[in-house]
Amino acid sequence: MRTIAIINQKGGCGKTTVAINLASSLAAHAKKTLLVDMDPQSHCAVGLAVPEEQIEQSVYDVLISNARGEPIRLAEVLWQISDGFELAPASIDLAAFDQQMTGVLDREGCLAAVLEKVERDYDYVIIDCPPSVSLLTFNAIRAATDVVVPVETGYFSLHGLSKQLDTLSVLCRQCSRQINVMVLASMYDIRTKMGREILGELRKQFSGKMFKTIVNFNTKLKEAASLGQPISEYDPASKGHKDFQSLAEELIGTDTHARRAEMVGTLQSKLDAISASAEELLSSIKTPQRAAKVEAAPAPSPEKAKTIDEKIADFYGVRQMEDAVMFVTLYPRAGNVQVAGDFNNWQPEQTPLKKVGSNGLWQVKLPMNKGKYRYRLVVDGQWQQDPYNESTEANPYGEMNSVLEVR
Ligand SMILES: Nc1ncnc2c1ncn2[C@@H]1O[C@H](COP(=O)(O)OP(=O)(O)O)[C@@H](O)[C@H]1O
Ligand SMILES: [Mg+2]
Repeated sequence: MRTIAIINQKGGCGKTTVAINLASSLAAHAKKTLLVDMDPQSHCAVGLAVPEEQIEQSVYDVLISNARGEPIRLAEVLWQISDGFELAPASIDLAAFDQQMTGVLDREGCLAAVLEKVERDYDYVIIDCPPSVSLLTFNAIRAATDVVVPVETGYFSLHGLSKQLDTLSVLCRQCSRQINVMVLASMYDIRTKMGREILGELRKQFSGKMFKTIVNFNTKLKEAASLGQPISEYDPASKGHKDFQSLAEELIGTDTHARRAEMVGTLQSKLDAISASAEELLSSIKTPQRAAKVEAAPAPSPEKAKTIDEKIADFYGVRQMEDAVMFVTLYPRAGNVQVAGDFNNWQPEQTPLKKVGSNGLWQVKLPMNKGKYRYRLVVDGQWQQDPYNESTEANPYGEMNSVLEVR
C-alpha cells in the first residue's frame, strides 16, 4: 500500500483538486484507492457530492476512538464513490482534534495506526491535508510513504514555497520515516510568460524531485468540483482529465522497488534540499523586471539593494499608514477578496478589497486604532491566512490567523 499525503500549508493551491482527481484516476487504473480527508472543512465530500448532513461519523470518530482503545473500524465511515474508490470523509470536529488529543501518547501516530489495519485492502491511500501545520498534518506525514506538494506556478507561490518546506522540515524533525517528497506544478497557465518562466526554472532546479506531469489550469476542474464530480466523470475529454491520468500513470510507474529505493531519502534531507532549491531559484529570478509589472507598487529605492523578502513586504501584506492600515494582496484569478477579523466581527462581507489594475492586485485601506488584531483573507469564499504576512497565531479551528499590530 502506498500512502500519499497532499501537503501545502497555503490554501487554494489545488490540494483538494489533486487529492480527489488523483484518487479517482488511480481507481480508474484498477488500483484500489482510499481518499482520506483530514481537512475539517470537508472539501472532499463537497467535491464528490457526498451530502454533508448525512455524514454521521467521520475520520475524526475513527481516530479518536482508536486512540481511546475502543476502535470504530475505518470501514464503518467509508463512502463508496465509484468502483475501487472510497472516501473517508472529514467533519468539522476534526478542528478540535489537536485539543482532544492533548496528553495522549503517540498522538501523531493515530492515522498511521488506523491505516496499518487496512494495509491489505488498498493499493493507494491519498490523504488531503488542511492548509495549516497542525497535528492533523503531522498525522498524515507519519502515515505517508510519499508527500506531494502542489505548487502554483507563480512567482509569489514560489516565494512561499521555501518557507513552507522549511516549516514542513521543522515539523518532521522527529519523524525518521523514509518518505519520498515530490513537488507537483499545479494550476499552470501556459498563456502567461511568468508561468512559463517559473515552470522552466522549477524543472531545472527541482529535477528529480518534481513530477514530469503538470496540472494545467483548467476551468473544467473547477466546474467538476462545484458539481461534485471527479473530472473523469464530468469531462473525460478535458485537458484536466488527461493531466490526472498522466499523473496517475507517472505515480504507478515509480512503484517498482528499484525506482523507489533510488528516490527514497529521509524526509528531513529531502525537504532541506528542496527548500534550498527554492531559495536558489528565487535568487536566480531578476526581481526589478517583475516588480515593474505590479501596478500601484512603490518604486524600488535605487540606493539600497533590498532582499526579495523586503521587496515583497513592500508590495503585499499589511502596511500601517498614518491613521489607517492598508491590506494589499495578489490573487490574479479571484472573483472577490475580502478580509475578516476581530475588527469587523469576522464579517468578511463588510470589508471587500478592491481590484486594482489587471495584475490581480487587491487592496483596501481601513482606519484602525492602536491594538493587536487577528484576521483572515476570504478569497472566493475560502478562508485563508494572509500569504504575505508572516505574523500568525493558531486559531481554535486548527488553522492560522494572521496577526496585525497597530502602534
Ligand atoms: N488546475 C486547476 N484548474 C482550475 N481550477 C483549479 C485547479 N486546481 C484547483 N482549482 C480551483 O481552485 C480552487 C482551490 O483549489 P483547491 O483544490 O480547493 O485548493 P486547496 O485544497 O489547496 O485549498 C478551487 O475552486 C478549485 O476548483
Ligand atoms: Mg483543500
